[in-house]
Amino acid sequence: MPQHSAIITGASRGIGLGLVRALADKGFSVIATARDPNASDGLQELVSGGLVEAHTLDVDDPVSINALAKAVKDQPIRLLIHNAAILKGQEDLAAFDTSDFLSSMRTNVVGPVLLTRALLSNLKAAGNATILHVSSQMGSVEGNSSAGDYPYRASKAAMNMVSKGLANELRDYGVVSVAMHPGRVKTELGGKEAPLLPDVAAREMIETTLGLTLDHTGSFIQRSGEVIPY
Ligand SMILES: NC(=O)c1ccc[n+]([C@@H]2O[C@H](COP(=O)([O-])OP(=O)(O)OC[C@H]3O[C@@H](n4cnc5c(N)ncnc54)[C@H](OP(=O)(O)O)[C@@H]3O)[C@@H](O)[C@H]2O)c1
Repeated sequence: MPQHSAIITGASRGIGLGLVRALADKGFSVIATARDPNASDGLQELVSGGLVEAHTLDVDDPVSINALAKAVKDQPIRLLIHNAAILKGQEDLAAFDTSDFLSSMRTNVVGPVLLTRALLSNLKAAGNATILHVSSQMGSVEGNSSAGDYPYRASKAAMNMVSKGLANELRDYGVVSVAMHPGRVKTELGGKEAPLLPDVAAREMIETTLGLTLDHTGSFIQRSGEVIPY
């Protein structure tokens, strides 16, 4: 019987699928969520291996979030990974689009907040839970020396702020909250030119995440654990 449970969003492909594989390899009981789990051959393959359970979850939809929380019931959750995100490419101010901005905030920030709230009792029940916000270096205000991508950058900066606030709010429950940049990874979002394979990035992300303690809560880190300026 596996010791720990983990929940991951956006597990249909890319880094999310790699994170499911890495956690299953570590013996976690993984609840892998996706908008349409049946449409992902990679996820279905992992489900047939036995340690992975697939659930439908659209992080934009509060009904879907509450349905997942109901399905998980009172099961302690050791690790919650907010991985699902969208990137709407926008070069500059002229290309700014309100609808893209709001949908990025919805998927990349509001969805994760609502999901954390829905699963809060499960996280507290674990005693030493971690909330991993898969963020991006593009969300670093300090590190930004370029223009454009306003929806994505702003949504990841907002996610970082939420991660820090949750670290402060949940410290007394033993819950660690961090934001992590996975590196430039070859996925639909990261593009073909990115140097890292999703499984390699995911394995390193999990190694670092499983070593986190309350000493690290509230930090913004690379997948190696090195601190990134907010
Ligand atoms: N790749 C990189 O170089 C890179 C760099 C920095 C940060 N990141 C971050 O890493 C994370 C994973 O990105 P990725 O590169 O693996 O991207 P990806 O291949 O495009 O995968 C994105 C995932 O998010 C899911 N998703 C999108 N909207 C959703 C929603 N409303 N509800 C549930 N799932 C939703 C997608 O599901 P569907 O299959 O249903 O569309 C897909 O599983 C993101 O948070 C991203 O910002 C990536």
